Order: sequence, then C-alpha cells, then structure tokens
Amino acid sequence: MPEWNQWKTIIEPFKIKCVEPLGFTTRAERERVLREAGYNLFNVPADKILIDLLTDSGTSAMSAEQWAGVMRGDESYAGARSFFALERAVRELTGLREIIPVHQGRAAERILFTILGGKGRTVLSNSHFDTTRANVEFSGAQALDLPVPCAWRFEKAEPFKGDMDVVALEAKIQEKGASNIPLVVMTVTNNSLGGQPVSMRNLREASEVCRHYKIPLFLDCARFAENAYLIKRRESGYATRSVREIAREMFSYADGCMMSAKKDAFVNIGGFLALNDRELARKCRELLIIGEGFLTYGGLAGRDLEAMAIGLREILDEEYLHYRIRSIEYLAEGLRRCGVPIVEPPGGHGVYVDAKMFFPHIPPERYPGHALVCELYLTGGIRSCEIGSLMFGRRTNGVFEPARMELTRLAMPRRVYTQSHVDYVIEVFGDIASRAGSVRGLRLLEASEYLSHFTAKLAVEA
Ligand code: F0G
Repeated sequence: MPEWNQWKTIIEPFKIKCVEPLGFTTRAERERVLREAGYNLFNVPADKILIDLLTDSGTSAMSAEQWAGVMRGDESYAGARSFFALERAVRELTGLREIIPVHQGRAAERILFTILGGKGRTVLSNSHFDTTRANVEFSGAQALDLPVPCAWRFEKAEPFKGDMDVVALEAKIQEKGASNIPLVVMTVTNNSLGGQPVSMRNLREASEVCRHYKIPLFLDCARFAENAYLIKRRESGYATRSVREIAREMFSYADGCMMSAKKDAFVNIGGFLALNDRELARKCRELLIIGEGFLTYGGLAGRDLEAMAIGLREILDEEYLHYRIRSIEYLAEGLRRCGVPIVEPPGGHGVYVDAKMFFPHIPPERYPGHALVCELYLTGGIRSCEIGSLMFGRRTNGVFEPARMELTRLAMPRRVYTQSHVDYVIEVFGDIASRAGSVRGLRLLEASEYLSHFTAKLAVEA
C-alpha cells in the first residue's frame, strides 16, 4: 500500500474545526459591485467574493496550536515573553542574531531602505516585489531586477526560474560601483515572476559575489519554506535533507532577512527583520521606535508574536508542504486541460496565468491581466490579482510604458480552501476559455504614483 502522500488524491493534512460562510452573489449583483468598485477588485467588499485568491498574504487559517498561543500571548509593553519566543524561533531558523519585530513586511522594507537607500544608490534583486520596489524608490534609490533570462520564458518549465542572473549581478556592481550598492535582495520565492524558487546553488553564487564586493545580501524570505521544499524536490543533493536543514542553509548565505510573516508563518499580521550587523540593527531599532513601537513588540500585540513563533515552526512540516505544493500543481493541471496558458512550472504559492497569451487581442494598455481579473469575478465570484502593466507599468507625462509581463495571479491562501473549491475555479476557467476572444480590455481612469494598482479606477473598453 502506498504511503498517504503517494496516492493520487490530495488530502488536506488537517481537520476543519471552525468554518466561515462564503459570499454567494448573483451575476447582476457582481456586475453592479464591480462597476461601483471602479473595476478594481481591491475595492470590492470581501463578503461579495466567493473564492478569494487575491493574495496568500495574511489570509491563512491558523492552527489550534496558534490559537492557543494567542491566549498565551504576553501583552507586556516591554520584555514580553512572546517576544522572546519569537526571537528564539527566528534565531533557530535563520541563525541571525539581531531580531526586530515589525507589523508586516513593508515596515521592515521601509526601515531598512530609509537607512540604506537614498539618491545615487541602487538595490539589486532577482526581482523586487511591488512594496519592496516602492520602498526603495521612495527613498530616492533605484531598484533593479536581475532575474535569469529563462524567468521571462513563461511557457518553459525550468526548475529554478526564481534565480538571479549572477553574471549580470557582477557586471552591474562593476558598472555602478560597489559603494553605491547598499544591498542585494534575494526574494524567495520570486513572487513577481511566478512564485518561482531560487536554487541553493544560485544563493551560494550570489553570496560569493556579494562577499567579494563586501555588499550585504538579504533574503526577502516571505515564502522561505515553499522555496526550501522546492529545493528538496528539484535540486540534486537535497532530496534526503530535511526542509529545516535546507532552510538553515539558505539563511546561512545571507547577512540578514526581512520577512512578511503573513505568508510562510501562517499569521494574519506580522513580520520581522533579522540581521547580524549590530550597528545597522541599532539604526533600525531607532526607526522602529519612531514608527512601529517598542523593540519587543514592533507594532504587534504579544499574541501576534506568539502565533508567529509557532507558525514559523509549523510551516516546516513536510506533510503540509507536500500537500501545499501538490494542491498548487493540481490547479495548474486543471487550467492546462482548459487550454489556459500559465507560467510553467506552477510556483510555490499560486498559479500565474499568462494573460498576454490568453487574451492576445487585448493590448498592454488595455490591461489583459486585469481583464481576466474582472472576468473571473463576473463569471464566478473569484477574486485574483493582476501582476502586469497595472501594477508595474509606467505612466510618465502621459506616456505609457508597459510592464514586461501581463499575468493574473491566483494566490492560494494556506489551509483555507479544499479540492472542491479548486475544482470550481477550474470549471469557471473552462467557461472563460471557451469565449476568451470576446473578453474586453479596460481603460485606466485614475491612478496614484506609487502602488497605483491598489487605488486605480478603471472602465470597460467601449
Ligand atoms: N515581499 C514579498 C516577496 C511579498 O510578496 C510581500 C507581500 C512583501 C514583501 C510585503 O509584505 O504585505 O507584509 O507588507 N506580498 C503580498 C502579496 C501583498 O499579495 O503577494 P507585507
């Protein structure tokens, strides 16, 4: 008899103790809601959503153990027991010494780039996520992405499309001058380009280059466990290593990390900065007190710190990670059957549809990725998120510069949806695929300068 994880059926490795109703709506209601929301799904009330794949961030179901931790949380202003629990969990995982809690990932980014950024500086990354880029640019610095070239060939299944182009990294350091590069950031997994993992080999090589030029290397480690599990599955030499050991090795190449714990720590809010450089940590803590809170809570309640500490250990459960990655593959298999072009192979936290290929009749300035977002909502009450020209396109002095990709991300909340929810999503895609040519693009009516996709207003093309 096969072991449980060798059967074809993907079983969720948990029982459900607490449930929430889904938001059922009619087509007419969704049409009205979408119009009133300015065709921006961020403006749609969550109770009008049936299946919410907007993000895997802060949307996880916490475990019974985490909820028990919430009750145990120490709410002392200073020196809370829950802080020390978090500090231990992060040190144990990363081996880094200075642990600074923050309320979420972008707070860590803001603190770090306020200190290290500024005019004339350049931050290099395999790919900056949108908030990371915004925080780098808001400081006056430049954010440059150096993904491996195959990351752009969405249809091609390569095991480590999250890797950084290490040759380009060294060339860029020489071009800009090492003293103008305060930091290199490796985003694991690479969220902007399909949730693709970074290989251990690439982390090692990037760290060698950084060490040579004396530039600190930080991991943006929101999804470190998914990355570690994909290394175990795909990189030779790691099949028999535990995911914890693999994660430890990943962190061993870094001088620090910033984490949005809303992903791979299963919490609804939380994050941290961890590093070895004591002087840099001192400056970070100064900003922490100004903007977030005292050193031992950083904008969080004690209960949040406690839940985060527990989540950081739970995420390394290999039975969970097996289910997680298999369930994402299952969605990808269903979409392929419907003829929907996706970023291959599917990533760690979701499936990314290549909307440029799916809707070749919609030009980038009419946002094909966002057209699919709207169509998924209208057809099936499904919420997803564009990663394309609405998120990353530039609109300077009326001139439109498209992003290089037009993707629609179906991000899977952790431990929230079951296989039948996923079957439903696949069925909705089948319907859209059968009439893809008739889906219309959108015009942008209003957008702010930074992170414009959150607040943009659009209208359906006439
Ligand atoms: N880094 C990465 C790789 C992320 O994916 C995110 C957030 C952040 C940093 C910022 O963290 O939201 O806690 O402030 N990603 C979410 C997403 C928003 O939907 O992918 P945060």
